[in-house]
Amino acid sequence: MSGSALHAQRDGWWQDAVIYQVYPRSFADGDGDGVGDFAGLLDRLPYIASLGVDGIWMTPFQPSPQVDQGYDVSDYCAVDPLFGTMDQFDQLLESAHALGLRIFLDVVPNHCSSEHPLFQAAVAAGPGSPERAMFHFAAGSDDGAPPNNWQSVFGGTAWSRVNPGSETDREWYLHLFSPEQPDWNWRNPAVGNYFEGVLRFWFGKGVDGLRIDVAHALFKADGLPDAPTADPVVDGLRSNPKVSDQEEVHEVYRRWRRVADSYSPGRVLVGEVNLAPDRAARYTRPDEMHQAFAFAFVKLGWDAAAWAAVGTELEAARKEHGAPPTWALENHDISRSVTRFGGGDRGFLRARAGLVAILGLPGGAYIYQGQELSLPDVDVPVHARVDPMWARGGVSRDGARVPLPWTTAPENAYGFSPPGAAEPWLPQPAFWGSRSVEAHRGDPHSTLHLVTGALRLRTELLAEGIFAPDDACSWHVREDGLLLCERGDQILLAVAMGDGPCPLPDGNVLLSSSPLTPEEFLPPDTAVWIRRRPPLSGLDFYDAE
Ligand code: BGC
Repeated sequence: MSGSALHAQRDGWWQDAVIYQVYPRSFADGDGDGVGDFAGLLDRLPYIASLGVDGIWMTPFQPSPQVDQGYDVSDYCAVDPLFGTMDQFDQLLESAHALGLRIFLDVVPNHCSSEHPLFQAAVAAGPGSPERAMFHFAAGSDDGAPPNNWQSVFGGTAWSRVNPGSETDREWYLHLFSPEQPDWNWRNPAVGNYFEGVLRFWFGKGVDGLRIDVAHALFKADGLPDAPTADPVVDGLRSNPKVSDQEEVHEVYRRWRRVADSYSPGRVLVGEVNLAPDRAARYTRPDEMHQAFAFAFVKLGWDAAAWAAVGTELEAARKEHGAPPTWALENHDISRSVTRFGGGDRGFLRARAGLVAILGLPGGAYIYQGQELSLPDVDVPVHARVDPMWARGGVSRDGARVPLPWTTAPENAYGFSPPGAAEPWLPQPAFWGSRSVEAHRGDPHSTLHLVTGALRLRTELLAEGIFAPDDACSWHVREDGLLLCERGDQILLAVAMGDGPCPLPDGNVLLSSSPLTPEEFLPPDTAVWIRRRPPLSGLDFYDAE
């Protein structure tokens, strides 16, 4: 039975679903303009289905000036011509469903584009108007300073003058990201009503779920008080408690959950909740979102003690609030795991091991396009960088967003574009062909084959009840650097995170990220799934704390 057929029979299919993140502008270019689009994606849906995943999360494709590559939305219920048409979207949804793939869209409720008609109307209407009350407009101080000391995630103050130089309109507007991304004012009920309409539009079309962008930051502290420190934001929005994790935000997700549950089948909400495990878990209480990414895990380095410590914290949060974490090691905002885990041969092996490890954990998991090809970050030449974070904050996310290589030969941007196309929107490096889908297909030991094998086995273990979505996890680190996670009472996940080979724990190896030679040792940078032979004894565990 396929993963999706199995899921269709059960309530809560999403609990252990594996979702493939598509960053449409870098997936496949169908119309030859050098930017990925619906035509390219439609053509390659069978590739995604062949991986054995349960669905796709598509990052924004709605009309946008593309200042933040689509996260600056100017119309929430339409398609940017850069990507295609609404008819093509409908076709995509239908084809995906026919292949057993669910579709999740990104919804961006914290901010829109400064070209959104409601923001344009607010600018035109002037101070004190109901139009301005949809956003955060406020007067600065007499000496020309902004309304408070909040910093933008992309660098610099989080405020811009709406009408610089005007004596009559001295207001500033808030943008936690770039000035082209004004923040909505969620204390105004009209904003909540507007977004309910957005949800209903896409759910009504048959979209299966939504990934909620910057989900923890919609509400700002009442009165917009100064943050305790004016230091630049160091970890997303977390370091400013006045814009993050306000209690009122939970009411939004209770309302969205009622909306999601009113459809048949129910629609699913997964949040980008970039908070510590105990706070993030509160967003997945039974009447709120279904899932939230385990952000504490997303950015970890290759460090057994850190994995065990964060895993233990996530497990404690799961026990308290009930929902297992949703696992990911990569997305379009962070350094790819091959690079983050050290680069070169070891980074390559570690990224494979890390992926095998998270696919063995209970709960949902996400694979970012290209992760199945072990793509590293690309050092995009400075002149070609387009990420607004680069211009404002000196950090570029472009290296993790380079258009995918499909063929070994460099023609047509390694198969990303059709013949005669424009150059790809970000340049691809000369080694790209060696990481292509074609190269992986021809190598039985490739990461692509590893991932499809792991997903097949995961589906079987779920069907046999050997993996259960609500399995408890107990994390340990052995003195030789072996990270261990006891999953339920039948499975042991082991990752060799030290520099030497580790004796294999007792049990049958079901899956290994690298060959085991000799068989009784786990080479460094290798992960295995082990079926335990009870009773488990003789292991020299000690707790990570
Ligand atoms: C998205 C980023 C985006 C930011 C602002 C995020 O968390 O994933 O790509 O720049 O929100 O919308």
